[in-house]
Amino acid sequence: MKVVTTRAELRRVVTVAPFDALPLVPTMGYLHEGHLSLVRQAKAEHGQVAASIFVNPKQFGPAEDLATYPRDLDHDLAVLEAEGCDLVWTPRAEDVYPSGFDTHIDVGSVTEVLEGASRPGHFRGVATVVNVLLNAMQPASVYVGQKDAQQCVVLRKMVTDLGMPVKVVICPTVREHDGLAMSSRNAYLLGGDREAAGVLIRALHAADAAWSSGEASGDSLRREMLRVLDAEPRAAVDYVSVADVDTLTELDHVAPGRGALASLAVRVGPPRLIDNLVLAPRS
Ligand code: PAJ
Repeated sequence: MKVVTTRAELRRVVTVAPFDALPLVPTMGYLHEGHLSLVRQAKAEHGQVAASIFVNPKQFGPAEDLATYPRDLDHDLAVLEAEGCDLVWTPRAEDVYPSGFDTHIDVGSVTEVLEGASRPGHFRGVATVVNVLLNAMQPASVYVGQKDAQQCVVLRKMVTDLGMPVKVVICPTVREHDGLAMSSRNAYLLGGDREAAGVLIRALHAADAAWSSGEASGDSLRREMLRVLDAEPRAAVDYVSVADVDTLTELDHVAPGRGALASLAVRVGPPRLIDNLVLAPRS
């Protein structure tokens, strides 16, 4: 596994075989099975894979957890090596954002709702860093997780709108035994908060069950999630949403043939957790 830090080193390796045009798995490190599932899928589909590890300051708000975001580079490199990862870029901030950097990508209305409403500037930071990573590493495809459904929508839209020559591959959410979506922030769940965090997937399953048994009212589906969340005293709800899968606008009515994205953000103890399920189209 080749590990590079500076842009110049990266440039040297990605412009020639065997490291040119590898599929890319961008990450912020502290890798868990969710990240590794993307590495595995990309490697299985292309025979080779590259990853990046960079805790991107531009996607954290001033009151967010940038300084305390969990990091463990030695562990990350060891697990990537074990997965057969071929190339890893571990840039420093100045390798990603050279002095004077002042260009940002604004993807528009899909960045203003849900996570974007709670975390102003977050997706501007995500879209900007992913652009830098794609330009520097030049992959033919980029693998991202459904766990961050809005991030998938934003990146897909950016790539489409700008005509970028890269395919966005969305991989399924990897979960713990009780259904909690794996996340680096789960490390902050202590004591009873870890068990209480199971309420997120239970709320999503309740909405999915209601949808499957014929409920199509957006309000009723959102209320169904709130009913489950309200029963967990450790859960403080930020939002619940039933929205269009592409535009992310809240739906009054879910069209059976189209389905919807059910998503939520909930604080359980210190961490703010997000999760989602696609309410699949039904005939
Ligand atoms: P990070 O949170 O480290 O996640 C890296 C990738 O792993 C993302 O595509 C995310 O959706 C995926 N992922 C995380 N948990 C997952 C899970 N339980 N199952 C499946 N996939 C999962 O997302 C980011 O970093 C950043 O915003 C980034 C795209 C790297 C830009 O800085």
